[in-house]
Amino acid sequence: DWNMGDYAANMIESIKQKVGDKKVLCALSGGVDSSVAATMVHKAVGNQLTCIFVDHGLLRKNEGDEVEKVFAEQFHMNFIRVDCADRFLGKLRGVSDPEKKRKIIGEEFIRVFEEEANKLEGIDFLVQGTVYPDVIESGTDTAEVIKSHHNVGGLPEDMQFELIEPLRDLFKDEVRRVGEEIEVPSHIVWRQPFPGPGLAIRVLGEITDEALHLVRESDAILRDEVKKAGLERDIWQYFTVLPNIRSVGVMGDERTYSHAIGIRAVTSIDGMTSDWARIPYEVLDKISSRIVNEVQGVNRILYDVTSKPPSTIEWE
Ligand code: XMP
Repeated sequence: DWNMGDYAANMIESIKQKVGDKKVLCALSGGVDSSVAATMVHKAVGNQLTCIFVDHGLLRKNEGDEVEKVFAEQFHMNFIRVDCADRFLGKLRGVSDPEKKRKIIGEEFIRVFEEEANKLEGIDFLVQGTVYPDVIESGTDTAEVIKSHHNVGGLPEDMQFELIEPLRDLFKDEVRRVGEEIEVPSHIVWRQPFPGPGLAIRVLGEITDEALHLVRESDAILRDEVKKAGLERDIWQYFTVLPNIRSVGVMGDERTYSHAIGIRAVTSIDGMTSDWARIPYEVLDKISSRIVNEVQGVNRILYDVTSKPPSTIEWE
């Protein structure tokens, strides 16, 4: 068991030595790993670090602004936000196969990142939020599959950077403790995992503006109520999905024929296996009535009660 304060201090010092007066680039997603890694490097080399944050239009409600606020306004990092929702949504139009969606998003992400990186001059180093489980997984065939699915922000292969991986020796819980030591805001340190392809894999099938809106708004309500119930740290992941089915309902005197929203909430240690979270009925009731009342176009709420295996955490 290491002392995370010492770990952070030593790592920051060694990054400083390694970088000298050179420049460093980071693809910041706002997730726990990239945020902690970027903050560490920023503490070591300050403005020699530039972070690129790609907002692909598939983030959760207010997420882009929140990330910008922390890293640009609070930490005063060199922070480049690339808003390219139209570009990603354009590429995704008409695509409904989950793996195709992932591939398009992954490739487009790398392209955007490269374009932005090429505008900068004299970069020698690239920060990666690689954690220990990534290190031990690499080298096997399964690892490549996992990587292609999970690390959308992967390294552009022909870019000649030296890597800085400050979290390589750490497990997730240790990354969180280091994050607390170096004062990364707790809503980031304790953030639930969020997949690189974002809401694209929570809208089942084809992505439309309306579908994204329904998932994004219902997800915001779910998160708000989980937080109010004090369950945030007990549930590994919790989110809504749009299964792309409509059903009959009634509202006032009117018959409706609207969308169903699925709620997925799981407990897990590492995401490899999971159980469905036993959210209290009263909390579910509140979430359900808020979503159907506040999100127009939704008239039915489903709760996913399957474990992984045989299900997966995501629906796509
Ligand atoms: P599944 O659905 O496979 O998810 O049980 C396990 C964990 O991985 C996340 N996940 C992804 N993360 N890109 C990512 O960066 C992806 O394409 C992807 N698919 C699943 C999922 O959210 C869960 O934490």
